[in-house]
Amino acid sequence: MSVSPLIIAIDGPAASGKSTVAKRVAAALGIVFVNSGAMYRAFTWWVLQNGIDPHDLPAVLELLARTEFRCGEEDGVGTIAVGGVPMTRDELASTAVNAAVSPIAAIPEVRERLVAEQRCYGSARGVAMEGRDIGSVVFPETPYKFYIDASPEVREARRRAEGIDDSIAKRDRIDSSRKVSPLVVSGDALVVDSSHLTAEEVVAAVLAAIRERMGE
Ligand code: DC
Repeated sequence: MSVSPLIIAIDGPAASGKSTVAKRVAAALGIVFVNSGAMYRAFTWWVLQNGIDPHDLPAVLELLARTEFRCGEEDGVGTIAVGGVPMTRDELASTAVNAAVSPIAAIPEVRERLVAEQRCYGSARGVAMEGRDIGSVVFPETPYKFYIDASPEVREARRRAEGIDDSIAKRDRIDSSRKVSPLVVSGDALVVDSSHLTAEEVVAAVLAAIRERMGE
């Protein structure tokens, strides 16, 4: 009998704490952590690196068509190489990438390519993936869906504390209003407001809900 891999979908707005939570949940369950936002950031970085204006749709699509993505895993964490270049956190969190990533992620062809890559992670040994549309589009069949939220003030303060220049409100607006796969709360997701909780408390709530849904 084959046992399907455990797939945990963790969605939420920018700086809601979903990355920290997904990472710790993956470690606790011995599955792979994947930050899907890093994949949209990686392609955005590649667009800028190639001297392309992120708003020049034909040029972005032409680059997409000739770009190879390679997904892998290192020490339980999903990795991505774009155009043969392995991505590191510094490149992906730059101010230029922060400013351009939401318009790039709103392009349907970009989403189609990256969603296909994201589904490949799900076929391996289980995954905790965080993003905006993981429960609604990438893995709609999983019973383990979470939406991690926090107030805009708390999220802006978290980014400032990290020393990252990020226009959270603007990204929220684009991510939530785009036509394809906007940020939504799936009806079957458990919503956790992390505004006044520690990361440990959020992780404990998520793990308890997973165990409950597993029927343990
Ligand atoms: O999670 P993050 O802030 O690193 O995501 C960067 C951008 O990528 C975000 O503004 C929206 C986009 N994104 C998306 O559209 N779908 C996902 N599953 C993950 C991220």
